[in-house]
Amino acid sequence: MKTGTFEQHVEEELSRLGEATAASRVYIFENRLAPEGTLGAVPRFEWVAPVITPQIDSPEYRDFAWRVGGFGRWENTLSQGEPIHGLIRDFPESEREGLAAQGIRSIAVVPIFVEEKWWGLIGFDDCAAERVWSAAELDALKASAGIFGAAIQRKHAEERIQQQLQHVAALHQIDLAIASSLDLSVTLSIVLDQVTTQLHVDAANVLLMNSATQTLRFAANRGFRTRALQNADLRLGTGHAGRVALERQIATIPHLANQPNEFSRSAEFAREGFVAYAAAPLIAKGQVRGVLEVFRRHTLDFDPEWLRYLETLAGQLAIAIDSHAMFNGLQRANTELMLAYDTTLEGWSKALDLRDKETEGHTLRVTEMTLRLARAMGMNEAEIVHVRRGALLHDIGKMGIPDSILLKPGALTDEEWVIMRKHPVYAYELLSPISYLRPALDIPYAHHEKWDGSGYPRGLKGEPIPLAARIFAVIDVWDALTSDRPYRKAWPEAKARAHIREQAGKHFDPRVVEAFLALELEVGA
Ligand code: C2E
Ligand code: SIN
Ligand code: SIN
Ligand code: FE
Ligand code: FE
Repeated sequence: MKTGTFEQHVEEELSRLGEATAASRVYIFENRLAPEGTLGAVPRFEWVAPVITPQIDSPEYRDFAWRVGGFGRWENTLSQGEPIHGLIRDFPESEREGLAAQGIRSIAVVPIFVEEKWWGLIGFDDCAAERVWSAAELDALKASAGIFGAAIQRKHAEERIQQQLQHVAALHQIDLAIASSLDLSVTLSIVLDQVTTQLHVDAANVLLMNSATQTLRFAANRGFRTRALQNADLRLGTGHAGRVALERQIATIPHLANQPNEFSRSAEFAREGFVAYAAAPLIAKGQVRGVLEVFRRHTLDFDPEWLRYLETLAGQLAIAIDSHAMFNGLQRANTELMLAYDTTLEGWSKALDLRDKETEGHTLRVTEMTLRLARAMGMNEAEIVHVRRGALLHDIGKMGIPDSILLKPGALTDEEWVIMRKHPVYAYELLSPISYLRPALDIPYAHHEKWDGSGYPRGLKGEPIPLAARIFAVIDVWDALTSDRPYRKAWPEAKARAHIREQAGKHFDPRVVEAFLALELEVGA
């Protein structure tokens, strides 16, 4: 995927816009929470005409907050989707000074929206003339803001998938650590490494539950500068961690300063400079085994994905602790870890369905049907594990397909098809680095191959197409045809069934079609 070139693209686009509009500066600001929790913005990109002074590194923009900076009017207007434009000398006093200091005489600023939320702005300065922006010019600027918004949205989707891949890889590292180490403290330290990196926190610790005394005791930590929080035992129900263990629920605190007395456990704690905090109970087999605490020296936006991953890591930790206690490190049931992975994959495939709004539930449905058909065709349970993962991830490569194509209401053009046909290759590129998913690649990579050799991406023909992919193809098309798509309404089941029968030996493996039709009749679906 072309994440590396995103910045270059934007730079190029800004300079193109700057020259086309004969502006002095063109820049993009991104909104972000200022330290006090109010909304602010930071400069992200800037183009300047020759002899104009760049402003992107101006100290004025460090910790810039809309209201505090005297730009509350801009916040109100831009957040409503409306532009700010005009001559600086006509602007209110609170705004005029800073703008004039940058040599600006006329300005047009258009909000950028991403996923329907106000994300930031694109601005155009004129330092040479008191330009009056025409309605047509403003419309053109709004159109470019829309294009930036779409590009950023796509970039976000790509970053999200990269991040989730790293999450899966990290879980695998933890699995290896648990499997290979006899010493719980070694395992905990490896897990805490992953916790701090993947959750972007500065420090983390694990407290273990002593069920006899109902106290939590420090077991391992990462990233602390002092010996804070290492000594005292914490009774169940006291302090943040004690409450988390008692209530069995994640707790999050974006600003520790607002809760001054909670960390009286340690006098050294204040010297750590922690700002944000979260804690998750470690629960295995219904028992609280301990608490995972994470700390950050800057505030943190606890978004749902972050919280879900914290929960996943806490689940892994609990399993590690539990299996250590049970088998004394000698033996361990692998199945629970595999279950934890598969929960991750389900979350992942749900995210995909969400994007492709029309196919909600599609992934779980096709996975379930594929497993039924695979079993009916005699695949064994060892193979079924990989079939399940492959089916859940079958269209993961569509993450790389832009919304304009994926959600297009009409037929695709030739150029769009070239891109759409890459989705199995994207899936291959994304998943093949993850060793535990490699045996699950058959479906994502080969589900659009056809029995007669006319499919893509490799044009495989007949038996060389992996059986899992041949089975999945029938189910995928069945589900696609019987569902509404952005480009057509659902077909009646009889028509879909006739299509599948007719494609036996062309699109589909005839043996699979036969098994499918037999199964279909049996369940009367
Ligand atoms: P999808 O919608 O999940 O469809 C999966 C497969 O089901 C398709 O693979 C195709 O083999 C079959 N299928 C789906 N709808 C129809 C249909 O109306 N008639 C027939 N005969 N078969 C159908 P295919 O063709 O390789 O397409 C892959 C993906 O490309 C589709 O996934 C969908 O996301 C997209 N796509 C396909 N056709 C169009 C289109 O006309 N417009 C748009 N916007 N997207 C399309
Ligand atoms: C993950 O945490 O690895 C993926 C689950 C998700 O956030 O969709
Ligand atoms: C998207 O928002 O386009 C990507 C799907 C997701 O991760 O939610
Ligand atoms: Fe597909
Ligand atoms: Fe699909």
